[in-house]
Amino acid sequence: MTRNRANKPSGAVVAALVSFCVSLLAMGLVSSLYAAPKAPRPDTAASSQAFLQVYRVFTSPRCQNCHPAGDAPLQGDDSHVHMQNVKRGKDGHGVSAMRCDTCHQAANLPGDHMPPGNPRWSLPNPRQKMVFVGRSAPDLCRQIKNPKENGNRTLEQLYDHVAHDGLVGWGWNPGDGRTLPPLTREETAKQMRIWIDGGAACPQ
Ligand code: HEC
Ligand code: HEC
Repeated sequence: MTRNRANKPSGAVVAALVSFCVSLLAMGLVSSLYAAPKAPRPDTAASSQAFLQVYRVFTSPRCQNCHPAGDAPLQGDDSHVHMQNVKRGKDGHGVSAMRCDTCHQAANLPGDHMPPGNPRWSLPNPRQKMVFVGRSAPDLCRQIKNPKENGNRTLEQLYDHVAHDGLVGWGWNPGDGRTLPPLTREETAKQMRIWIDGGAACPQ
């Protein structure tokens, strides 16, 4: 008897819970009435326009220097071939004594023309080169949304990579004496969002 009574919530507790739930519901209703109307989905034209903005970033030196067509990384704002005969290698991290991490540390070294750094500093591997250099906007658009060419990523994973990946982030923190991509990272992510939400349309 006593045991049962101890387990039963008292009438007052039940009433308090009920009124709490009712007020939660009411709050939800009120806030949904006053919520700003949802922005309309971007259309195809807005989507492909947004890609053109993303394209400017991808083909800027900080990004394309690691996304070359050949098997050597590129350097500088003129994207010249990397000195010291550095090559991609089987895993993208270089060959024998010219492994990327021989010179590139986990962080940028201070000073002009010093090696930039990141723990994952390398080129894409030779089986999926992810070439940005020399690609037209329509071609790069089709390439980066193709899972066979983009590291098997969905569009959302691609967005996440551009918005949050540490190696991509280096592009906006490139060390002394290097210029930045034409859009900030936030703006680039915003344009990616419009591109994807509008159906990942490609410019003609
Ligand atoms: C022998 C040393 C050395 C090795 C090995 C090396 N690098 Fe470099 N790298 C440098 C130096 C020094 C710079 C800076 C040059 C400058 O700013 O003028 C540089 C710059 C770069 C840049 C240019 C960044 C920019 O946007 O301007 C890229 C990209 C790059 N290296 C990629 C690689 C990759 C990938 C590997 C391995 C496959 C590699 N490097 C191996 C010394 C090296
Ligand atoms: C130090 C070299 C390096 C730099 C600099 C670099 N990347 Fe990459 N990027 C890579 C490597 C390596 C991969 C492949 C690894 C992976 O898939 O995670 C890659 C993959 C990608 C991918 C996914 C695959 C695809 O479809 O191409 C995107 C998108 C990308 N990079 C965008 C950028 C952007 C944007 C910048 C400049 C802000 C940039 N990268 C700068 C090395 C680099």
